[in-house]
Amino acid sequence: MMKSGKWLLALALLLLGSAIGLFAGMVIGGAVNAGKWFNLSPWLLWGVPAAKIAFEIAQALTIGGLVFMAFALSPKSPAFSRALSFIAFAAAVWAISGTAYLFLTYLTISGGLFSLDNTFFDQFWIFLTAIELGQLVSLNVLAAYLLALVVLLIRNLTSVILAAMLGLASLIPMAFSGHAAGSSSHALAVNALGLHLLGICIWVGGLAALMISYRQDPRADLVKRYSSLALFSIGLVAISGISSAQIRIGTLENYLTTGYGQVTLLKTTMLILLAGFGFIYRTRFIEKLNERAAGFWKLVTLEFLIFGAAMGLGTALARTANPVSDYPSGDLTPAEILTGAKLPAEPGAWSWLTVWELDLLWTLICLALAGFYVVGVLRLLRRGDTWPIARTISWVSGVLLLFYVTSGYFNVYEQYLFSAHMLSHMLLTMGVPVLLVPGAPVTLIARAAIKRSDDSRGLREWVLWAVNTKYAQVLANPLVAAFLFASSLVVFYFTPIFGWATREHLGHQWMIVHFVITGYLFVQALVGVDPGPARLGYPQRLMLLIGTLAFHAFFGLAIMNGQTLLLPDWFGAMGRTWGPTPLEDQQIGGAIAWGIGEIPTAILTLYVAISWSKSDQREAKRLDRASDRSGNQDVAEYNEWLERINKGK
Ligand code: HEM
Repeated sequence: MMKSGKWLLALALLLLGSAIGLFAGMVIGGAVNAGKWFNLSPWLLWGVPAAKIAFEIAQALTIGGLVFMAFALSPKSPAFSRALSFIAFAAAVWAISGTAYLFLTYLTISGGLFSLDNTFFDQFWIFLTAIELGQLVSLNVLAAYLLALVVLLIRNLTSVILAAMLGLASLIPMAFSGHAAGSSSHALAVNALGLHLLGICIWVGGLAALMISYRQDPRADLVKRYSSLALFSIGLVAISGISSAQIRIGTLENYLTTGYGQVTLLKTTMLILLAGFGFIYRTRFIEKLNERAAGFWKLVTLEFLIFGAAMGLGTALARTANPVSDYPSGDLTPAEILTGAKLPAEPGAWSWLTVWELDLLWTLICLALAGFYVVGVLRLLRRGDTWPIARTISWVSGVLLLFYVTSGYFNVYEQYLFSAHMLSHMLLTMGVPVLLVPGAPVTLIARAAIKRSDDSRGLREWVLWAVNTKYAQVLANPLVAAFLFASSLVVFYFTPIFGWATREHLGHQWMIVHFVITGYLFVQALVGVDPGPARLGYPQRLMLLIGTLAFHAFFGLAIMNGQTLLLPDWFGAMGRTWGPTPLEDQQIGGAIAWGIGEIPTAILTLYVAISWSKSDQREAKRLDRASDRSGNQDVAEYNEWLERINKGK
């Protein structure tokens, strides 16, 4: 049985580690000199990062705790309410330390003079509501206040996962802050920091919630479930950390010779140490937990010291000048002013295959979508079940297409060419779903993922819960899906959403998700194998398809014949020195929407027609079998009826 003080010792070591890491990082990285350069009082020099590290630790304990509860704990577990009280406390600390961080940051920016007069608080309010850093962190801290209240009201797993989603969403504004805000590789920097914070929260907060829960509910299952979360997190933290570091450090020499580089190397050492802990747990403790619990928890307690040190170093790193400047220098071209990056070279015949710019987030999503699917299929085959190979090929091809659209030619050119943007749109909303839907992922998860027996919810339970919610049932309704699919075209291009999705990184990510999901729901409603709301008959499905086809055509023609630019201050101001004029390029985009957009729709029409004839054949066979079983009684009755008609009765 784990002793009560163990968790408090772990928390103390986490705080001690973070203090040591922060101090070492500020000194080695050189951020400590900011005091001299900006005439900062020691209070502010150390107060701001100290408030930040307290805020990041409490944020991790809250969000990671909620994710752990959602995936590991049963609402009937004796630890359920205890874990909730711990998370409510952590959320309150997050809110208060976040407010302190905001206040001290404002004092730093405004010259450090606090006063009680209105001007001070008016200025502070402007910082919170009109200055990007203030706005971003305020959004995060507001979520903390909300969670500190909401968590106290939680009574079931559904509200746990909704609270976890709010917590995870609150990391998005933090991903846009700090060095990522300016960075010339803005998209990659933001994605990397966001994924980094996500991995850290689940890893650190999950372990803390496990420790709290295990005292009341000492089951090895909880440790195993956390261990899967930890494996996912370490991968995320490592990949995102290295990507972030690469943007800001650039050369190997900079790793060794600059303060920023040296602090990053220290952090890498911490990560390797933490990976060592994970390896020892998996090889020496998890399968023999009952006999070795004491040793296991001793190691876990010590691990918090390393976690703290890595987090302290990370916070110091965010305050350290990085070798590769965040801002493009010299005279900026229109393309650099608009996109933060240079205009790419004119695309050549092979550019479709040779030009790539990896999108870290979508690369990891595609790896997960393909990886989990293949693992699921292998699990079925290993236990002697079958799974149509066509489904696997279709799913993996869909994921490969999604990867190509989000990291290949289109990820490089769609900001500069409307036609490239439109083609990527068509592939995301039609091409990818037409390949993914036949993969029947929900059916695979329902059959391959291990079913929980203690009322807790794992991947299988949450996916089945999600597809059966009223909300999902409404969205998956064929008419609603068709409306969303078709109307998205007009709403997206003829409202400010198009500008937001083109200029803003968050808008761009939202666009990809929206197009893929609306396309998926539409294709699923027409030809999906997975369970869903009542299906339309085949004739109605074909009508729906033809209707959508027509809508697409009108939309394409409208753009093709349009004489005004949809985004003149973007495509018209890009200063592109090659290719068609912005208007010609937009008209080509219209032709693509009309032409290319129809190909997947034609494939779908064929698919529906084939499924229709197949279902007719199945029906005919069923009727034949029923007739055979009844000794062709139906044929006899039918002939009797014909006879009666003949006789005019
Ligand atoms: C391969 C190992 C790692 C590398 C290369 C790495 C790299 C980075 C980089 C480049 C940043 C961005 C700093 C900035 O804004 O300039 C960062 C931030 C951060 N990292 Fe890591 N990291 C690693 C592992 C870890 C681990 C294991 C933890 C803790 C468990 C961690 C905690 C943090 C934190 C808390 C931030 C803070 C960001 C902020 O205050 O905005 N990192 N890391």
